[in-house]
Amino acid sequence: MVNLPNSLSMNAPFGGPGSNPGAAGAPTGKERRLASAEHLVLELSNKDLRENALLELSKKRELFKDLAPLLWNSFGTIAALLQVDDTEVISFLLSTEIIPLCLHTMEMGSELSKTVATFIVQKILLDDVGLDYICTTAERFFAVGRVLGNMVTTLSEQPSPRLLKHIIRCYLRLSDNLKACDALRSCLPERLRDATFNSCLREDPTTRRWLQQLLHNVGVNRVPT
Ligand code: TRP
Repeated sequence: MVNLPNSLSMNAPFGGPGSNPGAAGAPTGKERRLASAEHLVLELSNKDLRENALLELSKKRELFKDLAPLLWNSFGTIAALLQVDDTEVISFLLSTEIIPLCLHTMEMGSELSKTVATFIVQKILLDDVGLDYICTTAERFFAVGRVLGNMVTTLSEQPSPRLLKHIIRCYLRLSDNLKACDALRSCLPERLRDATFNSCLREDPTTRRWLQQLLHNVGVNRVPT
């Protein structure tokens, strides 16, 4: 007996066991849709096929309910998409609800998963459409701010220079938006303002500069050490 999944889940990554209807009989409409989504997701990694695959996926967006985890779990897709750095790709990713998925990973994941998820949020924020998307409602901004803040708290106990770098870059980019910059005056973690991360940043002048710029933008001066 083959157990067919109702939908892709985090536990049944793309292409994994169970994603093939095999000998279970003629594929249902749902299985056909899933197969075509998987096919299009594969094509995203090929730069000649990418544009058309993006177009098809965005047209059929409502048919593929678990597209964000499918993109996330398929090998190399997000990396391939984010190389592209263009607004069309960012808009497409936003429509897949990739942000709540990243936020979940930033809360629950291992240090490596957190770093990758924060890097994706950073890439999205660096695009104007992405920044507007996140800053357009207070709920969205504070959801992102809360998760970034919790990671800062965790990092003060378990330092990770590479994760800290992406967190600071995200905050710095948020400070480019006027409303977000205002909100950061009250919700930027204290630990980014004091000397907590001095040693963590010792070997990273770029991130130290980003942090200085961030503190300058929100109008606080770093406590000298
Ligand atoms: N659909 C939700 C929204 O538009 C997606 C979402 C949840 C979200 N949490 C978020 C988007 C945090 C941005 C930031 O709000």
